[in-house]
Amino acid sequence: MSIEQLAETARAMVAPGKGIIAIDESSATCAKRFAGVGIENTEENRRAYRELLLTAPNANQYLSGAILFDETIRQSTRSGVPFAKYMADNGMIPGIKVDKGTHALAGFPGEVVTEGLDGLRDRLAEYYKLGARFAKWRAVINIGEDIPSGTCIEANSHALARYAALCQEQGLVPMVEPEVIMDGDHDIETCYEVTEVVLRSLFDALYNQNVMLEGTILKASMVVPGKGCEEQASVEEVAESTLMCLKSAVPAILPGIVFLSGGQSDEDATAHLDAMNRMGPNPWPLSFSYGRAMQQAALKLWAQDMAGNYAKAQQTVFERAKANGLAALGQWGG
Ligand code: 13P
Repeated sequence: MSIEQLAETARAMVAPGKGIIAIDESSATCAKRFAGVGIENTEENRRAYRELLLTAPNANQYLSGAILFDETIRQSTRSGVPFAKYMADNGMIPGIKVDKGTHALAGFPGEVVTEGLDGLRDRLAEYYKLGARFAKWRAVINIGEDIPSGTCIEANSHALARYAALCQEQGLVPMVEPEVIMDGDHDIETCYEVTEVVLRSLFDALYNQNVMLEGTILKASMVVPGKGCEEQASVEEVAESTLMCLKSAVPAILPGIVFLSGGQSDEDATAHLDAMNRMGPNPWPLSFSYGRAMQQAALKLWAQDMAGNYAKAQQTVFERAKANGLAALGQWGG
């Protein structure tokens, strides 16, 4: 796979006014989301829900792609079209979550490391055949008393870089996601410091593993105070801190940065992205790769009445895609 092809895919993922819907919840995470609204966690319900999200009329005007889960990339629409084919036919790039989740980091209480490198080359080759053109790996960095440790940051960066190199070898654009978690009562400055150290460590590791940044997308968390922090931050403060942190730690050659929503409200996730783009021009396109902030309104409606609210739920997916697509241009202005 040439770097030009990877770079072209990466650029398409962050095409102007477009972003990504993350629907790659593992079956266990899906169980949690479904339980929250009283939906039974069956394979058919997971399939039907993903179909609702992927086929929302006109949402593809604002969606460059979607991140699928292993089960989902093997599933099809009710009429029998594989989801990956449906997406490609509708101008959306199929992506796939390839990590195997977080596990306790031995010797470091409260910290986790993401697993999934064993056998990854073969899994990536299969996902490529199934239609995937980018792959996501999520590392989790918790903030707390005396954490994160340097060891945790290094272990996660190393795994992200190993996965990214394998992705590029197999023709997939790596979407590297080091998520600094919002839980805790830390302030925004602490989040800034941790995020900066994490990003510096990640880009060091990518460099050491010969990962080509031109064919890589960063999925970043925003710089925000912990959920339990007494002093919450304004939209401008979050946007300014996040931009400054990214500018200090992320090479300008990267084709794009997308954000996770991480537990922010729908409105906050959109407002923060919009504000950052209004503050531009920035070194990279800044867009979205939201899971909850794209889905939660739709899930709630669908749970109330699966058949009766189907169209209404799809309409909210369209509206969230449109709002975030405008925010990716700095034209939302809510
Ligand atoms: P949230 O936007 O719900 O944080 O999910 C994005 C994601 O893919 C996390 O890995």
